[in-house]
Amino acid sequence: MVHDSASAAPIQAGVARVFDEASGYYRQLRWERNRLVRFEKWLTQTTIEEELGDSRVSTALELGCGPGTWTGLLADRAERVLAVDLSESMLGQAREAMAQRSNVTLAQSDIARFNPGSDKFDRILSVRVLEYVPEWQPVVEGLGRWLSPGGRAVVVTKTPISIWRGTGRERWFGPRTFARRLTGRSLNPDFWQKYIPVRTMVQAFRTAGLVDITVRPVIFGLPIFMRGTKQYPIVPQFAEQPFLSASRGIWKWVSAGGRSRRMAALPLAESYAVSGRLEA
Ligand SMILES: C[S@@+](CC[C@H](N)C(=O)[O-])C[C@H]1O[C@@H](n2cnc3c(N)ncnc32)[C@H](O)[C@@H]1O
Repeated sequence: MVHDSASAAPIQAGVARVFDEASGYYRQLRWERNRLVRFEKWLTQTTIEEELGDSRVSTALELGCGPGTWTGLLADRAERVLAVDLSESMLGQAREAMAQRSNVTLAQSDIARFNPGSDKFDRILSVRVLEYVPEWQPVVEGLGRWLSPGGRAVVVTKTPISIWRGTGRERWFGPRTFARRLTGRSLNPDFWQKYIPVRTMVQAFRTAGLVDITVRPVIFGLPIFMRGTKQYPIVPQFAEQPFLSASRGIWKWVSAGGRSRRMAALPLAESYAVSGRLEA
């Protein structure tokens, strides 16, 4: 479905409302509260760092910074960072997290309507955002206009076809969820989320004019917990650590491999990263 600006506005208002509400607990719940999510944070951070590279650059842009989870990684690499988000409450959290970083500017913006004028960026990062943006394709195409020549963009988003989708992590169980599945009714009718196929994302990178495009699994492994926000272990506690260590080992082996190994591993991934470079 194609959304023009008029039809997308209520969707963005709904998405902003949901993330405003989540801003108080999102970071703790998603990235800090237990061994599993801390492991997932390590996978995501390692991927971002490897894809961004270590070089010092002049400017960086983050699309959908949320509470500033990854903004510091850009601030470590760039002289100036602009980080934007739809949700004012998320930006409030990011302001606190970035209080000591004088090189970070935070601004409210719907990335589907983002217009940096003539400004260009050496690095552009967007993590777990495009799945909430109906007009994600024009955003990815924007990367080609917003990057400086030789600049690099890294996008992380959720994987559509994945072993994780079949677990309670994605809330298939419980009477309310089951009723919702049967009736087709949504708990948040104005909330919008859609997983983007890897091939479609890669094609959008190409259309944006990016080259050296790589794809890799990010959050990866066997689902050892179920239910997104109320994670119940589905393996005994003593087995958690060995499972995570095995997942880390396989992830490293996959990440160090070529395109076919990485693509073959995607069904075990909850999220994937695509990165590309604008030719100098
Ligand atoms: C799941 S959170 C991810 C936050 C952060 N990148 C992270 O990985 O922790 C998604 C973020 O995307 C933002 N977002 C969703 N749609 C957006 C849009 N159209 N423009 C800007 N930000 C948007 C939300 O407000 C929220 O902060």
